[in-house]
Amino acid sequence: AGAGAEAEAAVSKPNKTLQLGVIFGLWYFQNIVFNIYNKKALNVFPYPWFLASFQLFVGSVWMFVLWSLKLQPRPKISKPFIVALLGPALFHTIGHISACVSFSKVAVSFTHVIKSAEPVFSVIFSSFLGDSYPLAVWLSILPIVFGCSLAAVTEVSFNFGGLSGAMISNVGFVLRNIYSKKSLQNFKEVNGLNLYGWISIISLFYLFPVAVFVEGSQWVQGYHKAIATVGKSSTFYFWVLLSGVFYHLYNQSSYQALDDISPLSFSVGNTMKRVVVIISTVLVFRNPVRPLNALGSAIAIFGTFLYSQATSAKKAKNQEGEKKS
Ligand code: 3PG
Repeated sequence: AGAGAEAEAAVSKPNKTLQLGVIFGLWYFQNIVFNIYNKKALNVFPYPWFLASFQLFVGSVWMFVLWSLKLQPRPKISKPFIVALLGPALFHTIGHISACVSFSKVAVSFTHVIKSAEPVFSVIFSSFLGDSYPLAVWLSILPIVFGCSLAAVTEVSFNFGGLSGAMISNVGFVLRNIYSKKSLQNFKEVNGLNLYGWISIISLFYLFPVAVFVEGSQWVQGYHKAIATVGKSSTFYFWVLLSGVFYHLYNQSSYQALDDISPLSFSVGNTMKRVVVIISTVLVFRNPVRPLNALGSAIAIFGTFLYSQATSAKKAKNQEGEKKS
C-alpha cells in the first residue's frame, strides 16, 4: 500500500504542478485583458465607481449561474459565514474602488508600480498588530519605497489622485488579507472560487449605493458622450463587458491559486503579474516612459523580491523554532 501511495504521489505531483501552472497562466492573462479593457472603457467613460460596481455585478451574476447549473457546490450560507465575510469584503471593496479611481487618473502602469509596494503596507500594519520582523525585512522595504518614489517623481502621467488611489488600494488589500486570515479561520472547507464569489456579492452591496451617490448623476450624460466618442455602441458595451468578465475571472483564478500556495508565494506571484501587466499596458497604450521612471519601477519590483526572500527566511526560522519546542 505504501508503494502504491508513493506511486500515486509521484503521478499526482507533476499533475498538481501543471494545474497550478495553468491557474497562474490564466490569472496573468485574465489580468492583462482586464487592465486593457478597463482602461479603454475609462478613457471614454471616466466613471470608475460605475465600472467597479458593474465588474462586481458581473461576478455576482456569474456565481449565481455557476451555482444554479451546479457547476460549483453552493456553500452553505450561515449567519456566521456572512458575518465573517463582512470585514474582508469591505476591505476588498475599498481596495478595488481606489485602484479603479487611480486607473482613471494615471497610466495603468503607474498604478501597478505603486501597488507593487503592497508588502511595505503589509509589514507596517502587521507590526502594529503585534507581528515582529527581522532587520532584513525592514531593510528590504527601503528599495521598494525608494523605487516607487523615483517612479512617482518621474511619471509623465503623475497626479496626486492617481497616487493616493493606488496607496489606499494597498491599505485596503493588506487589511483584507489580514482580516481574511483571522475571520475565515473556521470556514476553510469553502473553496477559493466560492469564497471570492461571496466576497464580490457582498462588495457589490457595499459599493453600488456609494457609487450612485458619488457619480450617479453623471452616468447618463457620460454614457452618451462615450458612445459619441467611440462611434459604435456595441464596441463600448464590449469593452465594459470584457472588463467585468475578466475582472471576475482573474480574481477567481488568483483565489484558486491561493488554495494551493502560501500567502508569501502568492504575493511573489502577484508582483510577477504586475511586471507582465506593466509591460503589456505600456505597449498597448504607448505611454511615454522616462528612463529614470523605468529604473525606479525596476528597483521597486526588485525590492519586493528581496522582501520575499527576507520573509521566507523569517518563516523558515519560525518553523524550525516550532519543531524544536
Ligand atoms: C482592482 O481593481 O482590484 C485592481 O485591479 C487591483 O487589483 P490587483 O491588486 O489584483 O492587481
